Amino acid sequence: MNSGPIGVFDSGYGGLTILRDIVKSMPGYDFLYLGDNARAPYGTRSFDIVYRFTLEAVRYLFDRGCNLVVLACNTASAKALRTIQQNDLPEIDPSRRVLGIIRPTVEMLHELTANGHIGVLGTPGTVNSRSYNIEVEKFHPDYTVTGHGCPMWVPLVENREAASGGADYFVKQEIDRLMMEDPEIDTIVLACTHYPLLIDKIERYVPAGVRVVSQGAIIADSLVDYLRRHPEMDARCSRGGTVEYLTTESAAKFSEMATIFLGRAVSAAQITL
Ligand code: DGL
Repeated sequence: MNSGPIGVFDSGYGGLTILRDIVKSMPGYDFLYLGDNARAPYGTRSFDIVYRFTLEAVRYLFDRGCNLVVLACNTASAKALRTIQQNDLPEIDPSRRVLGIIRPTVEMLHELTANGHIGVLGTPGTVNSRSYNIEVEKFHPDYTVTGHGCPMWVPLVENREAASGGADYFVKQEIDRLMMEDPEIDTIVLACTHYPLLIDKIERYVPAGVRVVSQGAIIADSLVDYLRRHPEMDARCSRGGTVEYLTTESAAKFSEMATIFLGRAVSAAQITL
């Protein structure tokens, strides 16, 4: 059985905040990152479109030799993961795997919250799908989940406005609205992989004592744990310590933006899905 890189997929740049932590935890493995930048953002798109785009990306990463693909995007995890796992994988190749990032995040909540009041900030797509509410209900039925969509946050990050004064208005507004819906919230999950780029501003406007949770380290730990529990898949993940970056938009633009997300320059290649 051939081994290949671990595929990491996002609609755009956000998944880099997850990749960064995964690579830190698993530096010996090979990774192939794919950002569908030409069609981002996904957060305001319909179920059908997000599913179709995500499936195209998964098929592409499989064709490039990935045996394991992580959807490092909450919107794709919310709207496409289950259908791909249940309907498409058995037909494409039942021995390959596609993992999402919602369940591993939810599984950790008991270590983070003291009172079970959870706020979920995400794209309108993720929040409206109620995927976090559904997963939390399974693992922690006594918790209260309040989701709130932040339609402006991804465009702020993608347009390099995350540090601007204008961003303060939108960040404060959404946090105030969330806290108004449930003032008892003690833990806020940043359920969009773009949001860690706004962390300075988010922490400025979150009430004292409320914990803000980014997903990178959680997903990295859960992937390490997954491969430990699935040695047959671990053996199919190649070890060369390489990270390759692919984008459906301009490679030069991706490389420039990726520097902001990763804190270092990378070179990317443009592909068509
Ligand atoms: N980064 C993606 C997520 O985690 C969403 C960005 C987008 O709207 O495309 O949900």
